[in-house]
Amino acid sequence: MRILLFLCVGASLVHLGVQDYSFMTVTIPKNMPPKNPNDYSLLAVGVNLDKLNSVYENLEETDSTPPPADAVTIFLSTLKSPANEKTIVISTDFNNPTAAKTKLNNYVTQHTSGKIKNFYSDFEQTTEAVILSCADKWKIPVSGGNSYMVQLTGEYNTMTNKEIGFTMIEIPKNQFMTLLYIIPDEGKLASVRAAANKMNLALWKNSMTRQVVNLTVFRATLYVCGTMIADVTEVDDHQLIKYKQASRMSVTYP
Ligand SMILES: *[C@@H]1O[C@H](CO)[C@@H](O)[C@H](O)[C@H]1NC(C)=O
Repeated sequence: MRILLFLCVGASLVHLGVQDYSFMTVTIPKNMPPKNPNDYSLLAVGVNLDKLNSVYENLEETDSTPPPADAVTIFLSTLKSPANEKTIVISTDFNNPTAAKTKLNNYVTQHTSGKIKNFYSDFEQTTEAVILSCADKWKIPVSGGNSYMVQLTGEYNTMTNKEIGFTMIEIPKNQFMTLLYIIPDEGKLASVRAAANKMNLALWKNSMTRQVVNLTVFRATLYVCGTMIADVTEVDDHQLIKYKQASRMSVTYP
């Protein structure tokens, strides 16, 4: 029997019923250089923790669909192999936690153009699997050119909140990662920033609808990684699984 236990590590991590996502929020100038103290928007990158967990859980299913190798990487203990042999894993010796840490940190650094270093701290020898999703040089929006501001047109998941005063637009990357542009109304930056906590971001995200938008937004290039770590120990006759999650991002312009 497996018992699941969620551990939250670090400030950017959450796992409460409604919140499938861990969000990282940054404040970004709407103009470069910003013209006044209100000339900013917010950007929130969400890593889907439930999806990362399900990749781990599916390792035991023979008939599961292997996850897309360009979106997620599975590091699996040398003592294990995936039930579905089509699932690509990187066999990793967690019995040597120092070597495992070096290997995985190098992997993250290579897959984020060197922007994210020393992402993992020490592993346990009982680590069974690490599921990692990275976004490297993720340009948002995708449209070409080098200018800082671009016109975003098309159908997007969108919501507006008149009370707090903002428009939010979602640009998903894949099933593991998504991005929310949160554009405050005139003079509302401080209140929007105060309201944009993890709980509200999850609620706002769930209330978005598909709409046609035509908005000027800034361009940025994102480097993101999000991970879950599963440590498995035997307690009496049970396997106790501890899940740890972490995420980090770095942003450049345009
Ligand atoms: C979008 O808005 C810009 C300026 O606000 C306008 O020039 C352009 O024609 C609009 N595009 C569409 C597809 O509505």
